[in-house]
Amino acid sequence: MWKEIDAAPADAILGLTEAFKSDSNPKKVNLGVGVFKDDQGTTPILKCIKAAEKKLVETESTKGYLPISGSPAYAANVQKLLFGADSEVIASGRAATIHSPGGTGALRVGADLLKKFRPDATLWVSTPTWANHKGIFTAAGFGIGDYPYYDPQTKGVDFEGMLAALENVPAGDIVLMHVCCHNPTGVDLVGGQWDQVVEVAKAKGWMPFLDFAYQGFGDGVEEDRAAVEKFAAAGIDFFVASSFSKNLGLYNERTGALTVVSPTAAESAVAMSHIKTTIRVNYSNPPAHGGLAASMVLDDSALYDQWIGEVAEMRDRIRNMRALLVDGLVARGVGQDFSFIKEQRGMFSFSGLSNEVVAWLKENKAIYIVGGGRINVAGLTTANIGYVCDAIAEALKA
Ligand code: LMR
Repeated sequence: MWKEIDAAPADAILGLTEAFKSDSNPKKVNLGVGVFKDDQGTTPILKCIKAAEKKLVETESTKGYLPISGSPAYAANVQKLLFGADSEVIASGRAATIHSPGGTGALRVGADLLKKFRPDATLWVSTPTWANHKGIFTAAGFGIGDYPYYDPQTKGVDFEGMLAALENVPAGDIVLMHVCCHNPTGVDLVGGQWDQVVEVAKAKGWMPFLDFAYQGFGDGVEEDRAAVEKFAAAGIDFFVASSFSKNLGLYNERTGALTVVSPTAAESAVAMSHIKTTIRVNYSNPPAHGGLAASMVLDDSALYDQWIGEVAEMRDRIRNMRALLVDGLVARGVGQDFSFIKEQRGMFSFSGLSNEVVAWLKENKAIYIVGGGRINVAGLTTANIGYVCDAIAEALKA
């Protein structure tokens, strides 16, 4: 059947990793996919996860199915992390959380669920946004709209433009927002700006869908959830897609969550019933291992503290590499100002490198960067930073 069918293009992010793997250049550097690497260039299993897994091997007694929504203990831990243990949302039972296969799975379950009840809604995304957002919601049948976000002039958020656009989003539409460490730009809203966005959401009646894939990579696990707490306090309906891929390093365990927050516990129970029917016809129930390990870390105060330390280490390493990159370019006489890279947050830097430079770096230096110029700063190491700075300096002069 495939004879008459054209091949699909490679994925903008994961396709780069495939190309990188088959590149024979010994100097190759992958700054594409958003995966943390330590200074040895490996993606480590966190020590807290290793300890939890050891315990799991000893105590796990079955591989029987999890419930459709995943383990209730996992859901409770996710909610504590998202809202804080003392949150009114938890006490009142007005959040429904399911264990999804990664953050991507959470987005897709949420999209399928919304399509059922808001079939004519448009999904609004920031300009730019994670390459897969549009794909996921388009696959679920949504039309996509864009709201302004990144201002290339200021290298910050075009907050006025964003707010003006959100004022005009029709009631019932869905607005996807990154809670922290915006992917791909690395620039976030600050506290008071979130208050304004929450007010607009409340006044206009659109549905916030928060993508929270980098909790802990901004300022800290608790600090980074400030926006979620603000939406929760507003008493409105909203969705959160969260993930342990990055902050617990559980990339290939596909460990994420979809949380649907409603004004009342009764509504939340109805939401849960429909989330379950959505999941049942898709993947039936989630894989267990990552969720069990995550739950074990979050439940055990010693492992939890160790985890907080490990997240801080990852965050600090990325910050250091930002500084080395900026200083390295200055030291090579690059005229263009890249100092803004030091201010960006999370794993990514929207570097400002043009698509031509990105293509040149791949062709000539085997340095892989996502189209649009997004660099995974965590892919830089003290061993490859000199090579990367030399290459960028050469590319900009070429
Ligand atoms: C990324 O943006 O690189 C990550 O979120 C990984 C992915 O699935 O694209």
